Amino acid sequence: MLQGRRILLIIGGGIAAYKALLLIRLLRAEGAEVVPVLTKGGGEFVTPLSVGALAGGKVYRDLFDLTDEAEMSHIELSRAADLVVVAPATADLLAKMAAGLADNLASTLLLATDKRVLVAPAMNVRMWEHPATRRNVEQLQADGILFAGPGEGEMACGEFGPGRMAEPEEILGAIGAALGEGPLSGRHVIVTSGPTHEPIDPVRYIANRSSGAQGAAIAAALRDLGARVSFITGPADVAPPGGVDVVAVETAREMEKAVQAALPADAAVFAAAVADWRVENASDSKIKKDGKGALPRLELAENPDILAAIAGMKKGRPRLVVGFAAETDDVVANAAAKRARKGCDWIVANDVSPKTGIMGGAENAVVLITGDGAEEWPRMGKDAVARRLAARIAEALG
Ligand code: CTP
Repeated sequence: MLQGRRILLIIGGGIAAYKALLLIRLLRAEGAEVVPVLTKGGGEFVTPLSVGALAGGKVYRDLFDLTDEAEMSHIELSRAADLVVVAPATADLLAKMAAGLADNLASTLLLATDKRVLVAPAMNVRMWEHPATRRNVEQLQADGILFAGPGEGEMACGEFGPGRMAEPEEILGAIGAALGEGPLSGRHVIVTSGPTHEPIDPVRYIANRSSGAQGAAIAAALRDLGARVSFITGPADVAPPGGVDVVAVETAREMEKAVQAALPADAAVFAAAVADWRVENASDSKIKKDGKGALPRLELAENPDILAAIAGMKKGRPRLVVGFAAETDDVVANAAAKRARKGCDWIVANDVSPKTGIMGGAENAVVLITGDGAEEWPRMGKDAVARRLAARIAEALG
């Protein structure tokens, strides 16, 4: 799949550097040429000998190496690649990139390159969540840097949470997508995500507990398979992934408009937890207590059902329409009925009763309901659910 492509692989100094060795093998098995750059820190975790042996060539290490510089200058090195990949991308490397520093070979190559850059961050969860790293990631996304992961899970340091480097297979998928080689390249997929906020007055609203984690993961997984993704999101806790077209909305009605505007699409995935009702008599000014104990009366009106509207389109309907069903009882029966009622092709059903910890949590246990029946998937991370669903979508679109 990557025959003749040249990847400049920068290996940063993190424990996940060992996974970079596996990535080199996977890339070479796909026919890519790998030009490795091992940072000083990276060299503390994996040896130049292993990197060079697996890459089948020279390992670049030093900015001021006269022999290297005579053979190929760092400027040439940064440009003679189809894609620059940083794995693992440490907090320090991301900070250098965001600030535009060029104080060693890796950061200089990253500043000098005219090619796309894909980073696979790997760090402790506190470092990933630190405001400084958040700022740097936001800056890099705005600069058009592509991200693979990080995933959530147990880390080498014993802590748990986001920061674990994406698995080599996932990085390989992201590399394929960045080079326009994925099974969904040339396809357009709409993904809705997050909750909606329905105003009561300018300061109050009706909302729900959706974090937007599953929708964001699905958008990222589809992007990694090469799709162009329109990501239409309500006010979610989880930041939207990089490399997708983000449309931020507040209310169900805004979300519906944004979905309509994003059409046509090959597929649409409705992962948003859209509020079923809005406040019909929402006030333009803040509702005040009247001092006599009179309670405000909220009149509710039903929101448009976006999924049903798109699934029911007579003309220009996306070929595959996927809905979600958040249920607390009789998950399969209710979800199958919902599939029929809404006219969508598939329903991804999950049990969101509080005991499952799914709503707002890192994991999901889903049943995929298609025209062929119900398929129970084992409980797994929301990222893994997303990748599996994206792969199924790629298969269905053929
Ligand atoms: N959905 C939508 N627009 C709405 C409500 C829901 O697009 N106004 C979509 C959701 O994104 C999801 C699916 O419909 O893909 C199911 O949503 P859910 O809230 O579980 O179903 P409801 O239609 O609300 O049914 P019920 O309240 O009976 O569970």
